[in-house]
Amino acid sequence: MSEDQTKKILQADKALMSTYGRFPIIFKNGKGARIWDADGKEYIDFFAGLAVNNLGHSHPRVVKALTDQAEKLFHVTNLFYNQPMIDLASKLVDVSFADQVFFCNSGAEANEGAIKLAKKFSFDKGDKKRNKIITMENSFHGRTAAGMAATGQDKIKTGFAPILDGFEHIPFNDIDALKAKMDNTVTAVLLEPVQGEGGVTPADKDYLVEVRKLCDAAGSLLIFDEVQTGIGRCGALFAYETFGVEPDVMTLAKALGNGLPIGAILAKGDAAKALTPGSHGSTFGGTAIVSAPALAVLDVMIEEKIPEKCAETGKYFIEKLNLLKEKKDTIKQVRGLGLLIGLEIEGKAADVVKQCLDRGFVINAVQENVLRFVPPLTIEKSDIDLLIDCLEDLL
Ligand SMILES: Cc1ncc(COP(=O)(O)O)c(C=O)c1O
Repeated sequence: MSEDQTKKILQADKALMSTYGRFPIIFKNGKGARIWDADGKEYIDFFAGLAVNNLGHSHPRVVKALTDQAEKLFHVTNLFYNQPMIDLASKLVDVSFADQVFFCNSGAEANEGAIKLAKKFSFDKGDKKRNKIITMENSFHGRTAAGMAATGQDKIKTGFAPILDGFEHIPFNDIDALKAKMDNTVTAVLLEPVQGEGGVTPADKDYLVEVRKLCDAAGSLLIFDEVQTGIGRCGALFAYETFGVEPDVMTLAKALGNGLPIGAILAKGDAAKALTPGSHGSTFGGTAIVSAPALAVLDVMIEEKIPEKCAETGKYFIEKLNLLKEKKDTIKQVRGLGLLIGLEIEGKAADVVKQCLDRGFVINAVQENVLRFVPPLTIEKSDIDLLIDCLEDLL
C-alpha cells in the first residue's frame, strides 16, 4: 500500500469512531463488479457493499436518474408529495403482495417501523393481550433499540441493557418450537427468509408454509425482513416469491437504492392501515433525490430480468463451490439461495477474507467460520471462475 493511502487511513482512524473493524483500504472508484482502491489496485467485488450494489457500481441508468433528479428537486417534507416517491411506491405495490408502502432510510429503521406497525395493529383491534413478537435465534434485524431486541444474537446486545422487552427468540426452521409459542398473545412473527448475518441459512420451504398457517390460525402478523434477501438477491425480486409464501408485512433496504440510503415497509390489508398521521414518520423517507434512482433500480431489475439471471448465476456459483468441496476437506458446507451464498469452512473465515483481499477479491466473513459471497447480481461467470481458482489455492 502507498504511503499516501497509509497516511489517509491514520487520519481516518483519528477522526472516525471505531465502530467497525475496517480493512486498511480506501476505495475510490467502481464500475460493475470491479472496484479500485486509492492506489489504483483493482478488485473483483463479491461483497457489493454488503448486498447493496445489486446492479453493480455506477449503473448508468441509476446514475442518470440520480443526476436528472438532482437538477430538479432534492427534497420536500413529507407534509407534501413528490412525484418520484409516488412512482416508487406505486411500482413496489404493483410488483409485490403489498397494498401500501412507508419509506424510511435503512434496514434497522424499516424493522423498527414494522415492529411499531405490528404493535399498533394489535392496539387498534383492542387486542391488549397481544404483546409478544417472536423472532429467530441467529437472526439479525439491525442496531437500533428495537432492532437489537429483535435480533437473536447476544453478542450484539452486550453493554446495552436494559434491552427492549417483548421479544422471544426461538430456533429457526423448527416448526415445533413455533407451535409451542403461538397463541393469542403473539402480535407478530418476524424472520428473514434466508438468515444472512447469522451465517447464510435459508428457511426450509415447508417450514415457511407452516409458519404462515400458524400465524393465520393465531391471528398474528407474519413479517419478513427482506433487507438483505430482497431486490433480486435470492433469484426473485423478493425472496418470499421463491418460497411461495406471502407475508403480511415486509421490510426492504440495502439494494433498493443500489447504494443510496433508503428503507421501506410494505404491508397489505388492515396491516397497511395501522400507521396513521402522528404515529410514525421519517424526515427523509421517500425523499425525491433517493426515490428517483430507486425507481430506476426496480425498472432495470424488471426490464433486464436481473433476478432470473441471478438465479442462474447463483446455481452456477453453488455448483462450482460444491465441486471445490469435493476436493477440499476444509470445506464443510455450501448453502444459500440465488447470489446470497455461504461457505462453511474449517478454520477462521476472517483469515481467508484477508488473503482474498491481497489477491484482489473482496469477500466477507459472517460468524467465525462462514465465508459469504454477495456479489452484484450482474457478475460474470468468468469472475466466479477466478474466485474459485483463488479459493482452491487458499483453502
Ligand atoms: C436482515 C437484515 N435486517 C436488517 C439489517 C440492518 O440494516 P441497516 O444496516 O440498513 O440498518 C441488516 C443489515 O445487514 C440485515 O441483513
